[in-house]
Amino acid sequence: MGEAKQRIVPTGFPGVFRSGDMLLTKSLAPGTKVYGERLFSQEGEEYREWVPDRSKLSAYLRRGGSRFPFRPDSHVLYLGASSGTTPSHVSDIVPQGRVYCVEISPRMFRDLVGVCERRPNMMPILGDATKLDDLAFLVERADVVYQDVAQRNQAGIFAKAMKRFSAPYGMLAVKARSEDVAREPMMIFHEAEVLLRKEGLTVLEIIDLEPFEKDHAMIVAGRP
Ligand SMILES: C[S@@+](CC[C@H](N)C(=O)[O-])C[C@H]1O[C@@H](n2cnc3c(N)ncnc32)[C@H](O)[C@@H]1O
Repeated sequence: MGEAKQRIVPTGFPGVFRSGDMLLTKSLAPGTKVYGERLFSQEGEEYREWVPDRSKLSAYLRRGGSRFPFRPDSHVLYLGASSGTTPSHVSDIVPQGRVYCVEISPRMFRDLVGVCERRPNMMPILGDATKLDDLAFLVERADVVYQDVAQRNQAGIFAKAMKRFSAPYGMLAVKARSEDVAREPMMIFHEAEVLLRKEGLTVLEIIDLEPFEKDHAMIVAGRP
């Protein structure tokens, strides 16, 4: 672990820091890496590089996203947690909150459990984002729904989760190729936006994640 080349300073988004172009979060589990990210120390604190090619939430910020809905005490329902890369940064960002990490694949879930063991605010849940009633008894509340499930009907699944948990804010990572490999990604992003509006949500921002993630957009939504 070394010192960053440029001083690490707050970005203005709670829990997110930068050193030059590089984004970082302050580690809640010092001394541990989750996906090979670089660690830096400054004034007795440890920071983790937040790599935009590995995390769509970091890519969203690097692409100028401005409607970051997380607060230090937010409860986050995270659908599609995989092995915990982005969830671990969300865990750093909400040190007094909670991250309910839902993952359907037992293989990914095994790695996710290892990450959660070192982070008291992360709860691993082996479950299905389309079966919300099965999750309800584990989720105390959701201030933010974050979804990255890479399957069909991403917007529909997200809208149901926002409603089911009365979440005021949500972030939806849309992978165009999971909906239709042949169609223009811009059309698919637009259709997702239309569906969310039809479901009564307010679309606050849509950010294309290129060049960090091809054919992906992040949609930030709120409930009026
Ligand atoms: C692109 S990966 C998520 C990466 C993760 N969000 C990150 O940034 O670190 C998508 C994950 O969603 C999971 N997934 C797909 N359908 C799901 C569902 N219905 N419920 C829960 N997880 C699902 C997949 O198993 C996969 O691990």
